[in-house]
Amino acid sequence: MVDLYPQMFKRKSIRDYYLEPLEEDMLQRIREQIYKLEPLYGDIGVDLKIMSHDKVNPRMMKKAPYYLAAFSEDRDGHQTNIGFMLQQMDLFFSANGLGSCWQGFPQPKKQFLENSDKKFVIFIAFGKPKVQLHRTSTFEFNRKPLSKITDIKNEDLMEILEAARLAPSAINTQPWYFKGDNQIIHAYCSQPNILKALVLNKYVKIDMGIVLCHIKLAAEHLGKTVHFVSDDVGREKTPRRYEYVTSVKID
Ligand SMILES: Cc1cc2nc3c(=O)[nH]c(=O)nc-3n(C[C@H](O)[C@H](O)[C@H](O)COP(=O)(O)O)c2cc1C
Repeated sequence: MVDLYPQMFKRKSIRDYYLEPLEEDMLQRIREQIYKLEPLYGDIGVDLKIMSHDKVNPRMMKKAPYYLAAFSEDRDGHQTNIGFMLQQMDLFFSANGLGSCWQGFPQPKKQFLENSDKKFVIFIAFGKPKVQLHRTSTFEFNRKPLSKITDIKNEDLMEILEAARLAPSAINTQPWYFKGDNQIIHAYCSQPNILKALVLNKYVKIDMGIVLCHIKLAAEHLGKTVHFVSDDVGREKTPRRYEYVTSVKID
């Protein structure tokens, strides 16, 4: 199995693709990977479908040959769950020489929207990249410094927090903040102001799933075990204008 960890330090959003179909064995590997994805909340029903571009209305975006469409039961936490699952795919594509990009605007064409009994949440576009696939250094990531996203000083957690820092987010808002100590990381998301909330609310929740995926993969890479828990102390420590999401227990 490919180690997704190194991908977090070199992946980037790809928006230019060759439109030719992928080889059948690559599509088969992608289907197998989709089957193996780990959910954040295993009790929320999810339906993931590969769609070719003729099934998608790309809106203002450049066409990609394929889209991974996420449908979900409409329950608390479903957007965060989708962020967590599909980020594993974003990294998988990067590890397999394919480009990908989260896409908030495109929608499935009407007949395909009705293809699932679940609610459409978001797409990840993917395919063979027309541009360079990877960044060559983490300096190429346009991200906030660690000091802006956490007050944790524990050296043991820095590698994990660095992986979190590099996570992608809608319009690169990086809405996360982390508190905690060496055993636990509490995750918070910023609350967009009322105007921005109309557009951003859904994406902020997906972004949180993405960053939690990076935290889990980094901790596991370091040989740790991760449990997501709801923690009263973490909730009490919620910074102003942030919302408590979850805590990550690291053993
Ligand atoms: C939930 C979500 C939605 C996104 N929607 C779009 C989109 O509609 N169009 C687009 O070009 N990029 C989209 N992106 C990509 C972000 O703009 C990109 O991840 C961010 O700017 C960081 O850049 P990087 O992924 O190259 O590191 C989206 C990202 C996320 C996480």
